[in-house]
Amino acid sequence: MSLCKWVSFLLIIHLLNSSQISSSLISNGFSQIPPKFLALAKRNDFYDWMVGIRRRIHENPELGYEEVETSKLVRTELEKMGVSYKYPVAVTGVVGYVGTGQAPFVALRADMDALPMQEMVEWEHKSKVPGKMHACGHDAHTTMLLGAAKLLKEHQDELQGTVILVFQPAEEGGGGAKKIVEAGVLKDVSAIFGLHVTNQLGLGLVSSREGPLLAGSGFFEAKISGKGGHAALPQHAIDPILAASNIIVTLQHLVSREADPLDSQVVTVAKFEGGGAFNLIPDSVITRQASVHMCNATVDFLQEEKPFFPPTVNDKALHMFFKNVSGDMLGTKNYFEMQPLMGAEDFSFYQVSMPGHFSFVGMQNEAHSPMASPHSPYFEVNEEVLPYGAALHASMATRYLLDSKTSSPSNSKDEL
Ligand SMILES: *[C@@H]1O[C@H](CO)[C@@H](O)[C@H](O)[C@H]1NC(C)=O
Ligand SMILES: *[C@@H]1O[C@H](CO)[C@@H](O)[C@H](O)[C@H]1NC(C)=O
Repeated sequence: MSLCKWVSFLLIIHLLNSSQISSSLISNGFSQIPPKFLALAKRNDFYDWMVGIRRRIHENPELGYEEVETSKLVRTELEKMGVSYKYPVAVTGVVGYVGTGQAPFVALRADMDALPMQEMVEWEHKSKVPGKMHACGHDAHTTMLLGAAKLLKEHQDELQGTVILVFQPAEEGGGGAKKIVEAGVLKDVSAIFGLHVTNQLGLGLVSSREGPLLAGSGFFEAKISGKGGHAALPQHAIDPILAASNIIVTLQHLVSREADPLDSQVVTVAKFEGGGAFNLIPDSVITRQASVHMCNATVDFLQEEKPFFPPTVNDKALHMFFKNVSGDMLGTKNYFEMQPLMGAEDFSFYQVSMPGHFSFVGMQNEAHSPMASPHSPYFEVNEEVLPYGAALHASMATRYLLDSKTSSPSNSKDEL
C-alpha cells in the first residue's frame, strides 16, 4: 500500500522533471544544455522515432546523387516538425533552417548516400536493394541530424541565431559537399560540424583531434592495352594482365621511394578488371588507381565524377569548443584524442571555405562488440548511438550560437 503511494509520488516528480527539461535550456547555465538534450533524445518516443527512420533509410539505400527517396523522407520529417528548407540543393540535397533567420549562422552536416555493395547481415531491416547497402552509417548520420532538427525546433525560442541543417548527397567519392558549397547556401556560416559513427569506440564516447584528422584523397582509373592472343602462345601476344600486375606492384614504390617517409601516404588498387575467358589474353585491362608502366596506358583522374578530396583539418578553436560541449554532455573522460586516419571525408570541402570540426561518436557495447568495419558487407549500426549523435549535433549548434552571442555581441551579418 505505502509502496504504491511512493511509486505514484515518484512518478509525479519524474513528470515534473521532464517538463522542466523541455521548458528552458539556458536558465541553468550553458553547461546543462548538452545533458538535457541527451536526456530528451533518449526518451522512448524520441528514440523509437529515430530508430524507425534509420531502418527505413537502411532498407532503401541509394547511391550518390540518387538519394531521391531518402531526400523525400528527410523533407517529409522536416515538414512534420515545421522546419523550413531549401530543395533541391546539389541535386538531391536538402538544407533546413531553424532559429531566428538572422546571424550568426552555424551549420550541421549529415551525408545520405549508400555504397554499391551487397549487405551480408541477415536481419529484419536488411537492405531491400540488391547490391546497395548503407555500410558506412550514413543512414544513422541522416537520422541523427533529423533528431537534432527536432530537438532544436522544440527549443527554437532559445536559439540565438540560425542553425543550418545540411543533408548532403554523395559523400562516397562524389564530392556532394563540394556541390553544396558551390550552391552558395553556406556563405554566411561561421562554423560547421560533422559527426561519424565508429565501431572503434564504446557507446557514448567521442574522439577527434585538432588539426589534420583525415587524409586527402584522389582516384584514378588506368586502362592498359596490349595485344590479345591465345593463352598458350604468349609469344604472339602482348599480355596486359602481366603488365598491369607489374604496375600494381610498382605503384607501391611511389609511397616507399618517392614520398617522404614522414609524410603519410597510401596507394591502393581497389579494383582490377581484365580478361573474359581463361584461355584468352584480353585486349585491355582496366585498373582503378594505377600508374603507367609498360604497354600503352591511359590514366583518368576522374575529376568530374570523383573530385580530389582535400585533407580534413579541424579548426583549433572549434576543437576546444567540441571538447567542452561533449565534455559537458558525456564527461571529459569520455573524450579520446585520436591519431590521424588515412581515410578521407568530403567534409573537408566545407573546411576549405569555413572553419569546421569533424568528430567520431562510438557505438560499441557488450552486445555489439566486435563490430565490422565501415565498408564491410557485415557493417552494423548499434542504434543506441542515435540519441548521442542527435544530442551532440543539437548541443554544438545551440551552444555555438549562445557562445558567439556572449563572446562577440557585435557579430552582425546579413539576414538570410
Ligand atoms: C600503343 O600505341 C601505339 C600508338 O597509338 C600503337 O602503335 C601500338 O600498337 C600500341 N601498342 C599496344 C600494345 O597497344
Ligand atoms: C565548458 O566551459 C564552461 C564555460 O567556460 C565551463 O563552465 C565548463 O566546466 C566547461 N566544461 C568542460 C567539460 O570542460
